[in-house]
Amino acid sequence: MAARMDVLLGAQWGDEGKGKVVDVIAPDYEVIARFQGGPNAGHTLLFEGQKHVLHTIPSGVFRTGTVNLVGNGVVIDPIIFLKEVNALMAIGVDVRESLLVSRRAHLILPTHRALDAASEAEKGSSKISSTLKGIGPTYMDKTGRNGLRVGDLELPDFKGRFRSLVNKHERLLAMYDRPGAPKEAEEEWLAAVQTLRSMKLVDSEHYLDQALRSGKRVLAEGAQGTLLDIDFGTYPFVTSSNTISAGACTGLGVAPNRIEKVVGIFKAYCTRVGSGPFPTELEDADGEQIRKVGQEFGSTTGRPRRCGWLDLPALHYAVMINGITELAMMKSDVLSGMERIKVCTGYTVNGTATDRMPYDITGRIEPILEKVDGWGELHTNEALPDGLERYIALIERYVGVPITLVSLGPDRAQTVLRQGTLVH
Ligand code: GDP
Ligand code: IMO
Ligand code: MG
Repeated sequence: MAARMDVLLGAQWGDEGKGKVVDVIAPDYEVIARFQGGPNAGHTLLFEGQKHVLHTIPSGVFRTGTVNLVGNGVVIDPIIFLKEVNALMAIGVDVRESLLVSRRAHLILPTHRALDAASEAEKGSSKISSTLKGIGPTYMDKTGRNGLRVGDLELPDFKGRFRSLVNKHERLLAMYDRPGAPKEAEEEWLAAVQTLRSMKLVDSEHYLDQALRSGKRVLAEGAQGTLLDIDFGTYPFVTSSNTISAGACTGLGVAPNRIEKVVGIFKAYCTRVGSGPFPTELEDADGEQIRKVGQEFGSTTGRPRRCGWLDLPALHYAVMINGITELAMMKSDVLSGMERIKVCTGYTVNGTATDRMPYDITGRIEPILEKVDGWGELHTNEALPDGLERYIALIERYVGVPITLVSLGPDRAQTVLRQGTLVH
């Protein structure tokens, strides 16, 4: 019987713990497919005392027997991709067998990175604080119909296409009064492209259609988070792709009526890395404690993440936009033992109370915070403490969907599956 695809995505501003959950539930799927973003993502996995950070390659790669697919919606930097492949091969993970790459995925060139930096420098204090991986310029070339795709690597005139795009970028960089990419970067890129060319390149929409028809279970893995979505995030402080569940359709070529579960990943609090509005941000000792205990420093850039209380209207918005059917709550352990825990249940915007995310949250917006009970130490093999159960019940009541997984630490094993559970 034909199977349907599940989608797993971030319900906040990224770094919710998507990588960990994909790794935990991957044995339940035959295919894990990344649908958007690129090396701006950093998905961390921890098992057997080893930490692994993935940027482009899906987080099912450590599970034997799982096929991992980089979908057409992803943008690939061949240099970063090569480093990821080498790091995995060095520890015995044979990605040449288990990894597929869509021919329709777009390529990040060294000059895309230079253009990202130029655009940020031009914006000055209103910069996005992008990861400088060239994400914005690569998606601009995609929608501007100038991009280079993985499938182009198989064409005889690939070099010519590459050169004409680089020339165009160099003219743009000159306009910004910025240098082009250094010669060595170009050489490194052209060498790295060889690895990408040697991978299993597929027409992933057909591959997934066939996989689903033959009853294989597919999990679509998102990057970033709903509030960084190009359409529904806190624009312009967003990334350049659709991070929401609709992005799984366009980023993989799977029709909406083939989606079954949509799993939203969120932290028991909120974080954001980079600029942009953040209504519940804490700039006090509580924020400092969360950053320290939660080790809230970026997996890709090492930047300190901004920390704040859980924002329920924002989470509710994510449930609505994505059609989230169940939630996974991460990092509950980070709030353990905190005397004061608060949650945001609404906002005051220009003196008026609302429980809706407004169009513009850069203006005068105050969170309405409610104090909730805390809880003590958490242990994977024991029942969750009453305080945490009450916190979970409050969230479920507010957003209207169940929390089926609670994460108590970064390790694979520090995971509690609740009623319904994520597994089939
Ligand atoms: P992703 O981008 O959504 O995959 O998330 P990141 O990997 O960027 O950031 C999540 C961080 O939290 C990583 O360092 C994880 O190892 C860690 N982590 C995941 N779940 C938990 C948890 O339940 N508790 C704690 N303390 N850390 C966690
Ligand atoms: P994962 O998948 C957190 C943020 C950047 C910046 C904005 C735009 O690990 O959750 P970009 O380089 O995409 O143009 O940057 O988006 N950002 C992320 N924040 N987690 C991520 O990915 C992110 N990817 C991009 O910090 O504010
Ligand atoms: Mg991350």
